[in-house]
Amino acid sequence: MNVLVVGSGGREHAIAWKLAQSPKVEKVFCAPGNGGTQEVAQNVPIPADDFAALVQFVKDEGIDLTVVGPEAPLLDGIVDFFMQRGLTIFGPTAMAAKIEGSKSFAKCLMKRHGVPTAAYESFIDYQSALAYVREQGAPIVIKADGLAAGKGVIVARTLQEAEQALFQIMQVGEFGQAGSRVVVEEYMEGEELTLLSFVDGETVKPMITVQDHKAAYDGDKGPNTGGMGTYAPVPHVSQELVEQIVETIIVPAAKGMVRDGMPFRGILYTGLMLTADGPKVVEFNARFGDPEAQVVLPLLETDLLDILLAAVNGELDSVDVKWKQESAVCVVMASAGYPGDYEKGIAITGLEQAAARTIVFHAGTKRTEEGLVTSGGRVLGVTGIGSSLPAAREAAYSGVEQIRFAGAHYRTDIGEKALRRQV
Ligand code: AMP
Ligand code: GLY
Repeated sequence: MNVLVVGSGGREHAIAWKLAQSPKVEKVFCAPGNGGTQEVAQNVPIPADDFAALVQFVKDEGIDLTVVGPEAPLLDGIVDFFMQRGLTIFGPTAMAAKIEGSKSFAKCLMKRHGVPTAAYESFIDYQSALAYVREQGAPIVIKADGLAAGKGVIVARTLQEAEQALFQIMQVGEFGQAGSRVVVEEYMEGEELTLLSFVDGETVKPMITVQDHKAAYDGDKGPNTGGMGTYAPVPHVSQELVEQIVETIIVPAAKGMVRDGMPFRGILYTGLMLTADGPKVVEFNARFGDPEAQVVLPLLETDLLDILLAAVNGELDSVDVKWKQESAVCVVMASAGYPGDYEKGIAITGLEQAAARTIVFHAGTKRTEEGLVTSGGRVLGVTGIGSSLPAAREAAYSGVEQIRFAGAHYRTDIGEKALRRQV
């Protein structure tokens, strides 16, 4: 079979890498891909938002399955576009992807189907939002309704911060259209956890648990990023808790979407808060996480192609999804300045040495005549695998130490909090 992966980040490298291991896969293509996907796939210079060109390519090359990595093309209807043309594609329709694209849509859905989440109200009128925030008091959480590159959520510790956030979003228009509606949410206290699931309408197959590190610097300091590192599985989360999350949250959400006439078929990313009242949803995403995919996929034992094909055919219940009994840690190496402005085109060395003990997933890299150079904020995700979390951490950082590019920055504490808990 020939497969096309749409996207160009570390997540897409991990998806292409995993699919390339399937004995049933003849050739993997990646559009547009990056300097790393080239090692496991053939890069195709078509941007992820050019649906017509992608369809033409799929027809010309006889691609059997297209897999979509990022949220933007999903929300823009790439799956609908392919399906209308009779092509096989893995991912949710634009309607179902709204579970990520609109916070108020996701909150309504959860309320309708009894999925535990923070209490909330949504507003389009600034004065009403302000009155509600003043009535509720701090701490309180203000969220721009639409996609805002991970910056549209303000966890306000004081009323002043909350009022300022509302003003920035609703009056100044900091996030443009994405902020024309805001969701004001109860503050939830607890530990965060991510559970990704393969979903095919009603059938839910959970993956292993993951924790991301969103802040730019050690100790969860500094601005929020797309994710600076992940580890899986989370050792202190029991199988019982995972089952509870699946039964009380993910299955009701999936069944609810089927009942609402917009079945979700794809990867459902559930961001959770483990509160004193049990697990509650922080957010849903309609795709693999990045860098969550870089730790989850290396631990997947089952052929990814089999799972994705079963899901698109509505036969996910027939697949036994198995995991390796190991741990994985991914450390993201970013450009100096990220998540703010950064330079591109900086030479990267040491990848071969790092590859001896780690899997190096590329995010923002490009191959040039002078060699591999940086081309994005998050440059590489270095994944270490081991029999335990400490062993995986040791492997990941041994790889990181081999890699050099000017100004590289990374967190040195990925997975550390979980280790402290264990002793
Ligand atoms: P989101 O984009 O909705 O995942 O929010 C980004 C981050 O804000 C989450 O990962 C949490 O750390 C935090 N957050 C979001 N909603 C809440 C909430 N209701 N209570 C506490 N923290 C929250
Ligand atoms: N790493 C967080 C996300 O992919 O949404």
